[in-house]
Amino acid sequence: GLLVMAGCSSEEQGTWQKIEKEGKLVVGMSADYKPFEYHDKDDNIVGFDVDVLKEIAKKLNLELELKDTAWDGIIPGLQSSKYDLIMSAMTITEDRKKAVNFSDSYFNAGQIIAVSESNDSIKNVEDLKGKTVGVQLGTTADIEASKMEGVEVKRYEKIPQAFIELNNGRVDAVAADLPVVAKYTLDHSGVKIVGEPFTTENFGIAMRKADTELLEKINTALADLKADGTYDEIYNKWFK
Ligand code: ARG
Repeated sequence: GLLVMAGCSSEEQGTWQKIEKEGKLVVGMSADYKPFEYHDKDDNIVGFDVDVLKEIAKKLNLELELKDTAWDGIIPGLQSSKYDLIMSAMTITEDRKKAVNFSDSYFNAGQIIAVSESNDSIKNVEDLKGKTVGVQLGTTADIEASKMEGVEVKRYEKIPQAFIELNNGRVDAVAADLPVVAKYTLDHSGVKIVGEPFTTENFGIAMRKADTELLEKINTALADLKADGTYDEIYNKWFK
């Protein structure tokens, strides 16, 4: 009777209940990925993901708390409940799906490479043979580049470090999501994008497997944002 009920109710005390009670959504992100999530000049975390999150929180009547977290270890941080979810330009992959649940996709991207302006020998990914490519450790760029034969992959904790190494001539190319590489080449001289995206990827919001109620809330909020034009507004702000 009582004991069973007590056990039952404590198990149902899921993340969504906790979020509602505290009135706050805690999000893990690796704020090193402009224009998705990064620190602005005043050291606020801003970006496309942040704006989408703010609107999701509004729809769910919640405050938003962002936790800047190293990309390497961001999923373990979710598993150990350091935050309620991850929104960090994270690609939905079969491998990650074994560990977490993903929301519906909120962004289509793909990996692309950049080289220094003066580089005439690398015109697309195939030309990376015998060259070095800088990636962010543990990203899909890392996973893809690591599969390429004869390519030396140099892994960095944050993607801006890889771009600095490109500038210094210590790597021949950098691979990352197209909007990130595009933004960097727009903001900095001396680097250019080459070739076409060599993957197609979808970004999703990651949650713990057990948190199916939260997953539903997030998907509903996302769908509402897409339906009422808010998503498009944010998209145009950052990508037009
Ligand atoms: N989309 C890529 C991936 O999922 C890179 C994401 C990196 N995100 C970041 N905030 N640094 O692996």
